[in-house]
Amino acid sequence: MTHIAVLGSTNMDLVAYVAKAPQRGETVTGREFRTLPGGKGANQAVAAARAGADAVSMIGAVGADAFGTQLRSALDHSGVDTDLLRTVEAEATGTAHIVVDDEGGNAIVVIPGANGTLTALAPGDEGLIASADALLLQLEIPVEGVLAAARAARRHGVRTILTPAPAQPLPPELLDAVDLLVPNEYEAATLTGLTDPHEAARSLLSRVPEVVVTLGARGSLYATRDAEPVLVAAPRVTAVDSTGAGDTFVGTLAVALAEGGCLPDALTWASSAAALSVQRTGASSSMPFRSEIDARANGATS
Ligand code: RIB
Repeated sequence: MTHIAVLGSTNMDLVAYVAKAPQRGETVTGREFRTLPGGKGANQAVAAARAGADAVSMIGAVGADAFGTQLRSALDHSGVDTDLLRTVEAEATGTAHIVVDDEGGNAIVVIPGANGTLTALAPGDEGLIASADALLLQLEIPVEGVLAAARAARRHGVRTILTPAPAQPLPPELLDAVDLLVPNEYEAATLTGLTDPHEAARSLLSRVPEVVVTLGARGSLYATRDAEPVLVAAPRVTAVDSTGAGDTFVGTLAVALAEGGCLPDALTWASSAAALSVQRTGASSSMPFRSEIDARANGATS
């Protein structure tokens, strides 16, 4: 029985698809607009559920508005337990304003809304974290809330996996409470001041026992204190929308680890999931199911 707990953001993604993102001061005409479920926390929860976790629980917050209702129901529909997803009367549901270009790249502005109220654990949160195999954290909610959850997980011996996104400097006490850190290259550089991913990973190991630096199409770099770093290649695919690829990677990775997989194997599986997700539009809407991930990891081409 694998149980993944997630504390993090729930956003409605307001996505404009354009040939090329506008420069400052420029107006461009886009091709399409879509409203899609997102938020790094909710995305990771959906990725874990689709990858086959027996139970996934989402701790988060939405507003008492139509987006909040739609996001709760999307999570329920994905099989994610939303009992600890609060509805905050005084705030709007978080939104992410996303431009996706023809190369599949994106630029995102997040308005946190109700996500910003998650500054501390609420009754029931610690008990839920204690019952999980892993706790997934990101940085789209206040860092105090992230720290409180990481400390609760540490008290109960639950593995904490932190995606340090959006990139920002972090209090050392948060890194000290994390078991596995999964930054991309930019986030690793923000945390360490080092642009070389090997050097950044080595520096991060002074605080965190295991680090995976995601390198986009180049794969991922796994570093631990007692072995040489391992570079795991990513499948070569043509991306149409990279939004949520990192969340797909982490949610899938958490399931593989909760099932007892070793990290390099788990990274291969997670890379297959991320490669599938970038070939489809949207964040959680693009995430693959377990059978698709298995087929991709076993050598199928799509
Ligand atoms: O990681 C992708 C997510 O970042 C999007 O779904 C958007 O909500 C932003 O939070």
